[in-house]
Amino acid sequence: MNLDNNGDSDIPSFAQNRLGSLVIDENLLTKKISQLGREITQDYLGRKILLVGVLKGAAYFMSDISRQISLPLQMDYMAVASYGTATKSSGVVRIVKDLDLDLSDKHVLIIEDIVDSGLTLSYLQKYLYAKHPLSVETCCLLVKTGNQKVDLDIKYIGFEITNEFVVGYGLDYNEIYRNLKSIYKLNLD
Ligand code: IMP
Repeated sequence: MNLDNNGDSDIPSFAQNRLGSLVIDENLLTKKISQLGREITQDYLGRKILLVGVLKGAAYFMSDISRQISLPLQMDYMAVASYGTATKSSGVVRIVKDLDLDLSDKHVLIIEDIVDSGLTLSYLQKYLYAKHPLSVETCCLLVKTGNQKVDLDIKYIGFEITNEFVVGYGLDYNEIYRNLKSIYKLNLD
């Protein structure tokens, strides 16, 4: 079996020349997600919860955290495209895939990968509020400290990170690197 790893690094060889330092490893991700799942389970006991995963970046996070929440829950997905460059969103958001389920009697929990300027999440929160669910809260795996251009209410945060472009565990650069098991800085030059 060839695991395509080089030496003792767990970075697959296809990614080695572009990746900088490790930011969050697989074990720490697992621990944090299980802790978030326990918190969410306590907070939503007895309530109808709908997880709304934001594609594509939150796909792994959605898959993992949903299995750490010990409640009957529903899952739905939205896909948004944010205009901008490969590393900066402009805040102008277009919905590429809308929800399939009705929100009127649900407590919505947005499952998001990363907040940078916060413009994408702010748009999504408003969009979902406008559908009149019972409540809207957000669970975000990563927040870039101090970068937000808008005031945001994020109830559950996995990790606060510094202002660097990161990839792995669902996060991409030009659609590549999503399938790395851990999160790394990307060398942009
Ligand atoms: P915001 O609107 O500036 O908060 O950007 C949010 C979106 O930009 C995220 O949902 C990601 O798709 C993308 N993004 C922001 N920072 C990063 C990063 O460091 N790595 C990968 N994608 C990022």
